[in-house]
Amino acid sequence: MTGRITFHDLKPEGLSLHKAVISGLSRTQKSIPPKFFYDERGSELFDAICRQPEYYLPDVERAMLIQVAEEIEAHTGRQRILIEPGAGNAAKVRLLLEALEPSAYVPMDISCDYLKGAAHDLVMEFPWLPVHAVCVDYTHSLPLPSTLPEGRRLAFFPGSSLGNFEPGEALLFLKMVQKALGEEGMLLIGVDTKKPSEILDAAYNDAAGVTAEFNLNLLYRIRRELDADLDPGTFAHQAYYNQDAGRIEMHLVSRQLQRVRVNGQSFQFREGETLHTESSYKYAPDEFLSLAEQAGFKARCHWLDRQRLFAIYLFDVEKN
Ligand code: AVI
Repeated sequence: MTGRITFHDLKPEGLSLHKAVISGLSRTQKSIPPKFFYDERGSELFDAICRQPEYYLPDVERAMLIQVAEEIEAHTGRQRILIEPGAGNAAKVRLLLEALEPSAYVPMDISCDYLKGAAHDLVMEFPWLPVHAVCVDYTHSLPLPSTLPEGRRLAFFPGSSLGNFEPGEALLFLKMVQKALGEEGMLLIGVDTKKPSEILDAAYNDAAGVTAEFNLNLLYRIRRELDADLDPGTFAHQAYYNQDAGRIEMHLVSRQLQRVRVNGQSFQFREGETLHTESSYKYAPDEFLSLAEQAGFKARCHWLDRQRLFAIYLFDVEKN
């Protein structure tokens, strides 16, 4: 038997790459939100980043999930509806499926084709699992399909994806998750910790140059999808840990004074001027616990690996 898949295409962001680029290039500090990294090529490159030895996050989180899956199940029980915003290739959820035996799995992602492929691969491997895939910009809404059965919900948000929100947005996002979970809902979330800057700088400047290619793909995407006159070769990847802000910052640095034209509008870059493409906030456990509490979650427990490189937290929705 092969599993059941329903696919809900909520047409994320049809026109808004254009809007984001025009408004982002009009700012004093030019910036484009990191969600625009993830076209099909960007999603592939992100998978490749996850295989780089310097990018420790996925390996550490994977090992932790394998180790604590049974413990998680002891808290959550089985047969929950498992919701994963930003599921990507659904690699990490595989580590939990046997232990948690969810009654349904709801992967959500902004990259529709990528999501479809991931859902198909998943049901080949887990034919007993009903999959309700939702293609949506989950940073704005978490629409649950009406075909979803009743049941207690568990949101899974691994990979420190929360770090890509500004702290104020992270709070709003967690509040939105809390609402979508409802009573008896739980949240399992992986968040990167603060640590020495050498480890962080290396993680976002891998020797093979994959993170650089991922960053530069944003410019290739703009050129592919918009009427844009720009040469990605005139920009360089830059990533560093901003200790004061507690975040990795990724930028694209203009190698020269130049004009870039997008859909008839022209923007000047000075030599050395940057386009800010991503922040990746790192949280000490106390900071994160207090953020989640503000969003209406009550901590059940959390786990850190031996080197305190990464943390996994389990929360209940706080009862009113
Ligand atoms: C998806 N996100 C959690 C990654 C991060 O670490 O902030 C994206 C990434 N950017 C560069 N490398 C990985």
